[in-house]
Amino acid sequence: MKVLVTGANGQLGYDVINELRHRNIKCIGTGRQQFDITDYAAAEQFIEYYLPDAVIHCGAYTAVDRAEDEPELCYKVNVIGTENIAKICKKINAKMMYISTDYVFDGTKEGVYEVDDIPNPQNMYGKTKLEGEVAVQRLLNKYFIVRISWVFGSNGNNFVKTMLRLGQEKEVIDVVSDQVGSPTYTVDLSKLLVDMIPTDKYGIYHAANEGVCSWAEFAEKIFEISKIKVKINHISTKEYLSKAKRPKNSRLSKEKLMELGFGKLPSWENAVARYMDSVI
Ligand SMILES: NC(=O)c1ccc[n+]([C@@H]2O[C@H](COP(=O)([O-])OP(=O)(O)OC[C@H]3O[C@@H](n4cnc5c(N)ncnc54)[C@H](OP(=O)(O)O)[C@@H]3O)[C@@H](O)[C@H]2O)c1
Repeated sequence: MKVLVTGANGQLGYDVINELRHRNIKCIGTGRQQFDITDYAAAEQFIEYYLPDAVIHCGAYTAVDRAEDEPELCYKVNVIGTENIAKICKKINAKMMYISTDYVFDGTKEGVYEVDDIPNPQNMYGKTKLEGEVAVQRLLNKYFIVRISWVFGSNGNNFVKTMLRLGQEKEVIDVVSDQVGSPTYTVDLSKLLVDMIPTDKYGIYHAANEGVCSWAEFAEKIFEISKIKVKINHISTKEYLSKAKRPKNSRLSKEKLMELGFGKLPSWENAVARYMDSVI
């Protein structure tokens, strides 16, 4: 099988390509240099020439707060860009895997979010990612939609890197403790995505490392592992000024993955330890 990965210069796309190569699956990673996903003609020309059996669409506008100030650009990349990739997949009869987010939910549910819970995004990024999901579902039958949360990987900026930087600068760091979710390590997730892509077990999935924590607990684990002495001051969402509203509950049920025979990802604590071993 031949797989094309968009967003290959980003956190997730980079590790998806690594995993495909590791398994000797023929693949190509694409970024803006190859084609801009919002340019249908350019995307069509490139993808039709490579003619993949599957596209893993990791390319996205991911600046959650900035999206509130530039909604048109966010829409263009996450909705029009995704629609373009879906149309091309349809034309060449390729499977499509669309990576989505916990931010499609409003976070008001008491328990974990199931794959068929009704989305209700609270910010521009979440709204456009949901519209991307809708476009994929409208245009294709052979699709996987995989909602993930709190991503960290070696290739790009993320919460772990931000905390390590702040840990060098400050003795006390304010971190939100009333938003809970599951960190997702791109290396672990990529293994799952590459397990899924050759199958025909299409549909919507939730995936993340096992276990849940708040951002403050996540930060404490990072400093425990790195042995950097920093005090984490637990603050509430209300006290943390940010442009975009974020869900308080981002806990995603992984039951569908289990039902369909895909393995669990390791615990988030184990993932953070391995990640920090590789970046420090
Ligand atoms: N990061 C998270 O915490 C998180 C959480 C839940 C879901 N997700 C989803 O997971 C997926 C991967 O996220 P990530 O963290 O790996 O994102 P990322 O590091 O921001 O990477 C996204 C990539 O998409 C590329 N891209 C953006 N606009 C493009 C365009 N018009 N044409 C071609 N490429 C374009 C970016 O290129 P440039 O660098 O050149 O802009 C970047 O390399 C995304 O679908 C995201 O929505 C992420």
